[in-house]
Amino acid sequence: MIRLDKLLSEMGAGSRKEVTKYIRSGSVSVNGEIIKAPDTKVQESADIICMGEKIKYKQYFYIMLNKPQGYVTATKDNVNPTVLELIDDELLRKRVSPAGRLDIDTEGFVFLTDDGPLNHKITGPKGHVRKRYYVELEKPLSEEQKDRLENGVTLDDGYLTKPAKMEIINGHSCYLDLWEGKFHQVKRMFAAVSNKVIYLKRTIIGSLPLDENLEPGQYREITDEELELLWT
Ligand code: URA
Repeated sequence: MIRLDKLLSEMGAGSRKEVTKYIRSGSVSVNGEIIKAPDTKVQESADIICMGEKIKYKQYFYIMLNKPQGYVTATKDNVNPTVLELIDDELLRKRVSPAGRLDIDTEGFVFLTDDGPLNHKITGPKGHVRKRYYVELEKPLSEEQKDRLENGVTLDDGYLTKPAKMEIINGHSCYLDLWEGKFHQVKRMFAAVSNKVIYLKRTIIGSLPLDENLEPGQYREITDEELELLWT
């Protein structure tokens, strides 16, 4: 159960003050009945109509964004635009934050949510969620580079990477699956085998692929079924 005024303002129907006004003026119904007391406790699953609009309660929001180059994966930045600036829905923009980071020049799947425990499950050290990257390289790829990258390479700070999986697409491009996410990891892994990443895009998190219909800069909510795929 949740207070009617709280539910309405959390779902973006208006500020707490505005929704109080709507309720008091008889513009809000719950299961077909006009309710005029803002502090009335209602079921989260109730049928709620506010100013003629159906309001569906959601505890958390889950977003899939196709990040374009030039945006930083942060909530605030003094120099560059952030991925949050791509979220045009004001309610969503206020609530969600990105889970994990992509570099400013990396494109692809950024997951955003206001579900703290799930955010941690995806990004935390115990997460072990797979991330797949599409990588284009300056120099030709070899089977030897593949073997080394899959078994673990030592990065410039001495860190030995965990086992990875690589699928060569052609001489200059591949998919790389990682189960960890160190700073600039993909770029530093290829640097460790004397190659250079010239284009990078994250295409899958867990088993959930980035929706191909999303152009860079576009986003959509993730369905309940898709959510399960994030860590399977
Ligand atoms: N690895 C990188 O080097 N950059 C990213 O943005 C993500 C993974």
